[in-house]
Amino acid sequence: MTLIIAIDGPAASGKGTLARRLAAALDLPYLDTGLLYRAVGRRLLEQGGDPADAEKAAWAARAVQPDDIQRPGLRSPEIDAAASRVAAVPAVRAALLDFQREFGNRRGAVLDGRDIGTVVFPGAAVKLFVTASLAERARRRWLELRSRGVDADLDQVAADLRARDAQDETRAAAPLRPASDAILLDTTRLDPEAAFAEAMKAVTVMGKE
Ligand code: CDP
Repeated sequence: MTLIIAIDGPAASGKGTLARRLAAALDLPYLDTGLLYRAVGRRLLEQGGDPADAEKAAWAARAVQPDDIQRPGLRSPEIDAAASRVAAVPAVRAALLDFQREFGNRRGAVLDGRDIGTVVFPGAAVKLFVTASLAERARRRWLELRSRGVDADLDQVAADLRARDAQDETRAAAPLRPASDAILLDTTRLDPEAAFAEAMKAVTVMGKE
């Protein structure tokens, strides 16, 4: 049986760092599903399309190739916002579902996103919902941007995160929310090492159930 570990949560909560570490420790493939939505958003922006145009967004989602998520430059603030807009379109989500399921079913996987435990793999053996306070998430995203040489304003970063969370939580299609059987992990006061240790405990407990 393949082991699926679903890691969901709001923007900059530490999901990616945690998911990558779990995948390395457990020798499982890792998929950052946000990159798929980012690739769709970028395709639209490159073609001068409006991310709110549902038909064009669905077309862009059907055209996304595995290589698209390897391209650098998917983490700009413009693409953050475009990804969240296209992610609200049901046909976009439907077009990306098979890719995610096939990735996980090949030999198990750690996947992070917004709806992995609720929609993509509702039967996942391990589900974590990772959160942190808005102030802490903004601080982390700001540091991340700075380390990439982007001179961002902390208040603006916080406002962008808040707007994207609101959009992700209130959309009708696969809104961001914890699965009823997810373990909640608040990383506000946890460094990456401590978050990893907590997550490994959950893997040990849930993985055996
Ligand atoms: O890294 P960060 O948490 O900032 O964002 P991300 O995980 O790369 O996701 C970018 C956007 O894609 C999110 O704001 C969501 O709108 C969307 N997304 C989604 O709807 N479902 C997923 N499974 C993953 C991402």
